[in-house]
Amino acid sequence: MPDLFPEDLEKWHIFESKLLSIFHSFDTHEIRTPLLESTELFSRSVGNSSDIVNKELYSFLDRNKESLSLRPEGSASVIRAIIQRKQEQEKHKLWYQGPMFRYERPQRGRFRQFHQVGVEYLGFEEGIAEYELISMVLQINKLIGISDYTIKINHLGDELAKESFCNSLTSFLKPHMNELHEKDHARLKSNPLRVLDSKEESTQALLKKGPQFQDFISDASKSFLQNLVGAYTDHCDIQIDKSLVRGLDYYTGIVFETVSKELGAQDAFLGGGRYDNLSKQLGGKDMHAIGFAIGVERIIEILTLEHLKQPLKVGFIVPGEQITKKTYKIADDLRSANNNIILDTFLSEGSLKSQLRRANKNNCSYVIIIGDDEFKNDQVIWKDLSEGGEQELLTSKEVIEKYTNL
Ligand code: HAM
Repeated sequence: MPDLFPEDLEKWHIFESKLLSIFHSFDTHEIRTPLLESTELFSRSVGNSSDIVNKELYSFLDRNKESLSLRPEGSASVIRAIIQRKQEQEKHKLWYQGPMFRYERPQRGRFRQFHQVGVEYLGFEEGIAEYELISMVLQINKLIGISDYTIKINHLGDELAKESFCNSLTSFLKPHMNELHEKDHARLKSNPLRVLDSKEESTQALLKKGPQFQDFISDASKSFLQNLVGAYTDHCDIQIDKSLVRGLDYYTGIVFETVSKELGAQDAFLGGGRYDNLSKQLGGKDMHAIGFAIGVERIIEILTLEHLKQPLKVGFIVPGEQITKKTYKIADDLRSANNNIILDTFLSEGSLKSQLRRANKNNCSYVIIIGDDEFKNDQVIWKDLSEGGEQELLTSKEVIEKYTNL
């Protein structure tokens, strides 16, 4: 569970502000749900057969002996909240963000507390919503400058297709248990679909001889997938991956993941899909649902600050001991005039030289200096820190004007 320091969070903030503008343009609104939920919510949604519920939940009994868990993901909580408000029959375009908890083996890109930004579209049947969400993924990647990525996508059919395939796969595999890798025996028992996800060569070889999931999926589903992929092939690298089943039980229909080669073994920085049955499964009314979640730590790892236009920074230097009401008034007026600029006020007293060094180190483009003489004459020095940059003397009025128009 890593600590996050200012230097880590700088990129996060820029990323978050870009995301907010995208959500705004898609008319998608924020929802916040608690970090703790009843354990049952996750076993009934993410599923008892999933690793997330099986091995990774942080659960404990509260004072009333009820089992609670730290949320491992956000979709189940969002659906619970909508059911509780009895709003399953309305349409919702929601986003959320925050920490999630999974007791995984920590490694690069995999933490026990990590952060997701998620989007859930509720009340929209298969169709335009899929296009809208893939478009949103493309917009996000474009706005934050990620170009080297692949969208893997698949169609899991409806609940019926899933069920009849699972039955058929189980009947096929039972007489071949000695050929099926040991690690996959439990998967077959708890959720046969998950066997498709196996990393074991012997299992994959066996699967080739058995029933194929694609044969159980309707032609309508297959052509929907083809059309969806066809609409985006000119815009990004999008590939059908028939082995993509995802690690959460609630999916039916379209599922997708976005991967980057730059990330190493944990290469998915976004995952999602349709889960139309979850509301019913949790005791609510029928409600269509589709969404995705971004792993913030992973997406941040592939961003570089050059991708993100940083706000301009101006240093505010008052050498000596003149941190008086008057100089603060100027800083205050500057911030009110243009709050898109970072005004980096150096609070520690130090020589002009050391404060200028600090301004350079902090990537300030300009500095405003108020020395003894300027202070007396109600003036400031405006200094351009770029190579060969000039400096000029401005009145306190002029500096506000300059700052406003930067
Ligand atoms: P998920 O694939 O389990 O899906 O997680 C989404 C993303 O969270 C992953 O692609 C990954 O980037 C990030 N992530 C997952 N586990 C970790 C970890 N231990 N450390 C760092 N990052 C991690 C879901 O959670 C679904 N609720 C997504 C969804 C929303 N489906 C429909 N709506």
